[in-house]
Amino acid sequence: MKYNRQLLELMCGIFGCIADDAAAMVLEGLRKLEYRGYDSAGLAAIFSPGDSSPIETEKTTGYVSELVSKVNGRFDGAKISIGHTRWATHGGVTDQNAHPHSSNDGNITIVHNGIIENSAELSNRLNNLGYSLSSETDTEVIVHLLDHEIKTQPDGLLILDAFCTVISKLRGSWALAAIVSGHEGILVSRSGAPLVIGRGEAGISVSSDVLPFYGACSEVAYMNDGDNFLLTTNGIVAQDDVEKPTFEALEGVYDEEDPGIFPHMMLKEIHDQPTSLSNVLSGRISADGVNAELSGFDLSPAEIRKLERINLVACGTAYYASEIISSYIRKFTCIRSEAFIASEFPAKSVCSQNTLTIGVSQSGETKDTLDALFEAKKYGSNVSSLCNVIGSTMSRMTGNGAYLHAGPEFAVASTKVFSNMVAAGLLFALTISDIPNLEKKKLVQDLRKLPNIISSQLIDADEAIEQAANLILENGPPIFIGRGGLSSYIAKEGALKMMEISYIPCISLPGGELKHGPIALITQGSPVVALVPSDSKLNLMETSIRECKSRGAKIILITDSEGPISELADILIQTTQTHPDLSPFTHIIPIQLLAYQVGVEKGVNVDRPRNLAKSVTVV
Ligand code: F6R
Repeated sequence: MKYNRQLLELMCGIFGCIADDAAAMVLEGLRKLEYRGYDSAGLAAIFSPGDSSPIETEKTTGYVSELVSKVNGRFDGAKISIGHTRWATHGGVTDQNAHPHSSNDGNITIVHNGIIENSAELSNRLNNLGYSLSSETDTEVIVHLLDHEIKTQPDGLLILDAFCTVISKLRGSWALAAIVSGHEGILVSRSGAPLVIGRGEAGISVSSDVLPFYGACSEVAYMNDGDNFLLTTNGIVAQDDVEKPTFEALEGVYDEEDPGIFPHMMLKEIHDQPTSLSNVLSGRISADGVNAELSGFDLSPAEIRKLERINLVACGTAYYASEIISSYIRKFTCIRSEAFIASEFPAKSVCSQNTLTIGVSQSGETKDTLDALFEAKKYGSNVSSLCNVIGSTMSRMTGNGAYLHAGPEFAVASTKVFSNMVAAGLLFALTISDIPNLEKKKLVQDLRKLPNIISSQLIDADEAIEQAANLILENGPPIFIGRGGLSSYIAKEGALKMMEISYIPCISLPGGELKHGPIALITQGSPVVALVPSDSKLNLMETSIRECKSRGAKIILITDSEGPISELADILIQTTQTHPDLSPFTHIIPIQLLAYQVGVEKGVNVDRPRNLAKSVTVV
């Protein structure tokens, strides 16, 4: 797929289908796409394709489950249906702004992912033509433009021609699906937001990603930017000079969002880590247990060693993982390496032909990261990715790199993928490193033991985590501190995790920075979460902790040390000792559990915290 910067503003989830029970399939598809946004949901359906009465729609704020209740079987047996799950950008979270949007006569209805940049201009044009808009969205203009076009187009032209004319007037990004009463089929258009067509015995469908197709379709075709089609039961209709997409067999299985014995997906995913870590390591360590062998990169380790620098670009949790990965690269090679928040990437200053820029991402759809990779490419850098979602835009755009093999991550707060990012990054750093074999062997040996270590930590931690959660709930926002690169990055990730699923504002900083200002926040009882692996910074961390304690702070100490440092703890969370370079893996587990516990006790929907989406596809 050719990557175009303008064409990557993606968002929300859309699903459409032509089948015997199309609306049921759409509701099921939306449930599987809900990770893309869950502010509101809606669907539209045509029961009898030749019938030209207005299209039935239903929409609601809230989750897809709320839409299912509202629909209450009313759409059973519909033959054509489209639906949408929304992450609001233009206009608040209201029923009115939820998709689908319909023409004033109700004969056309549309769902859209993306941003129509010229919606204000188009809206003025529509007002002059006598149309009134009823929502605050940028999407609604499209449905009225289509209405106008269909009503005014010359005889002999097809509905697809009217659709293409409307598309030619749009600027911005979109994945669109539209249905028109009296017409069989679903009009679809892709420009910067993903759309995949699936077909199987049940019928033909279109979706924001392949997840809903597992079990329902045998073949898929990825639409390209610029594609506009009419999907019908007889296949895909394209305009005369346009190539139709090619179908390929759909392989793999859909991993159901099922927490099993756990109350939430987030807790399940935290507990998945022994398995997901085994998976990311599997086949990537040499048979003699000495070397890491992470393959999949266009450049060989020898070529990478000659580079001037390696940039990592990522956002949020993936950025904190990237900071740790950069530390590993700096430590195990002589190559300069730096992690950048993707939306702040100074490509011009740090990219050239002699550099490699790696996008690190769970979803592979994060627009800020895709943009940074695009900029990197523009300035001549080689690009690769460390990505979890197979076939994602990022993995297809870079065309090389390694998958994280964490399995699907459904909870919005990233947990197991963070660990797999760090593991894949460590494997990468070791693969390209030329440190002595003995040093490498020691680390690789301990790396192989990690899944077991994590597994035992997950069994032991509960009581201290509960006490720590209560301390935070009773005494107010915690400050996370660490020192020495790895731990201060874990501290940052801890603060992010706590904020996103407990809504408690948190700060994090390297311990040494406390005295330069933030220590002013500490009063009697303030919780401080201190990350203290047994590494060369342990003594300095002790100093930072004493500084906090002497001002009344209560210390939640996360450490693998069995030495005197533990006496400084008000609450001690003991982790298992491992190689100091592997402390991020052992220390992130209690951090994730603590955030989870606080979120649950505050009554937050930890799997779907407010205002967030699993795949952040807008700038
Ligand atoms: C936090 C979280 C986000 C993502 C970020 C990047 O728990 O999940 O901070 O890490 O939005 O997403 P990806 O990794 O999909 O690029």
